[in-house]
Amino acid sequence: MTADKYVLVTGGAGYIGSHTVLELINAGYKVVVVDNLCNSSEEAIRRVSELTNSTIPFFPVDLRDKEGLEKVFSEYPIQSVIHFAGLKAVGESTKIPLEYYDSNVCGTVHLLKIMAKYGTPVFVFSSSATVYGDATRFENMIPIPEECPTGPTSPYGHTKMIIEEILTDAAAADPNLKVGILRYFNPIGAHPSGRIGEDPRGIPNNLLPFVAQVAVGRRTMLQVFGNDYKGSPDGTPIRDYIHVVDLAKGHLAALAKLDSVEGDNSEGFVRPWNLGTGNGSTVFEVVHAFENATGKTIPLEIIGRRKGDVVNLTAKPNRANTELKWKAELSIEDACRDLWNWTTNNPWGYGQPEK
Ligand code: NAD
Ligand code: WQD
Repeated sequence: MTADKYVLVTGGAGYIGSHTVLELINAGYKVVVVDNLCNSSEEAIRRVSELTNSTIPFFPVDLRDKEGLEKVFSEYPIQSVIHFAGLKAVGESTKIPLEYYDSNVCGTVHLLKIMAKYGTPVFVFSSSATVYGDATRFENMIPIPEECPTGPTSPYGHTKMIIEEILTDAAAADPNLKVGILRYFNPIGAHPSGRIGEDPRGIPNNLLPFVAQVAVGRRTMLQVFGNDYKGSPDGTPIRDYIHVVDLAKGHLAALAKLDSVEGDNSEGFVRPWNLGTGNGSTVFEVVHAFENATGKTIPLEIIGRRKGDVVNLTAKPNRANTELKWKAELSIEDACRDLWNWTTNNPWGYGQPEK
């Protein structure tokens, strides 16, 4: 870590970004945040400032705003970029794919061009396990290693895959560029302070935010999308749920690793790392973990399968364990407890009750 150099966190007001900003500042990094607030609130940044007793420079800028982004690089000596900013809803991406390509792909290309102009060498990218598609189409690919062939099945997944390819090409052409591609599995939970957490707009797409809203009385019951999956002990799909604080710490581990990588004379460095626990849990197991951690009962009904869901997405995280010296430490119960703490303290997230 360089004391007078900054880490630029794009999407730093968002769910994973805000938790990572907090961990970075607590570890002594100086941070600048860029976020267009299309899926987040500036209140998250304010609370991270409060929790870390620090001032966080914040630019409410879209990545595609060339002048706005250039201003950030001209005002701060940016040593590394952690790039969270982007659109992330799989279902929505099938309705408005061009918005996804524009924000995710064009936004990233623009960011990389400015980094090259200012000589910023380190880039950490938020990719997703969604790039693997259905890994059960291969034999022996569960748990999923980074070597598993990719095959995303949604426009959102395609944007992540394309960005990974762009990063690989950019590093091949630039000996100064060092890129870490972090493929997250299913991030859950909230900071144990209960001050920051996930604040989905509208009806949550993801399992645990929905469960928490049922528990707090905002929704009546959970709909379980199918219990007839072969290869699952109870018929519901298996996922690798990872506490967001563990995930945030994975970014610090990636920065440390990239800082220590020696440059090559001819090309830069690029490497994907899975960030998951290595343990799979079914939907029912997660609901029970939430009930045990909170003492709440979650009414549920089984309905048909959700289009695009696959039976098993469990990480093989050995590469990150070894190369990044990072390992997820927290359990699903820890995540459920912290999610519940966040939800009861902020039943309407960062905002106001719905009218
Ligand atoms: P989030 O929506 O909470 O955070 C993304 C942030 O980026 C938001 O604050 C949003 O306002 C901002 N943003 C979006 N487009 C922008 C643009 N063009 N310019 C500037 N800011 C922009 O999402 P998250 O869950 O924190 O996810 C962060 C990253 O991790 C995303 O890239 C997402 O695709 C990826 N990811 C998330 C998950 C997950 O389940 N949460 C899993 C795998 C990968
Ligand atoms: C988990 C399980 C559902 C909601 C998504 C993205 C992925 C990544 C992480 C960004 C599944 C079931 C859910 C509900 C349910 N994001 N479920 N009822 O689909 O594994 O991954 O988030 O990169 O790309 O696809 O997560 O939380 O939506 O679903 O039964 O109301 O819970 O069927 O089995 P998913 P999820």
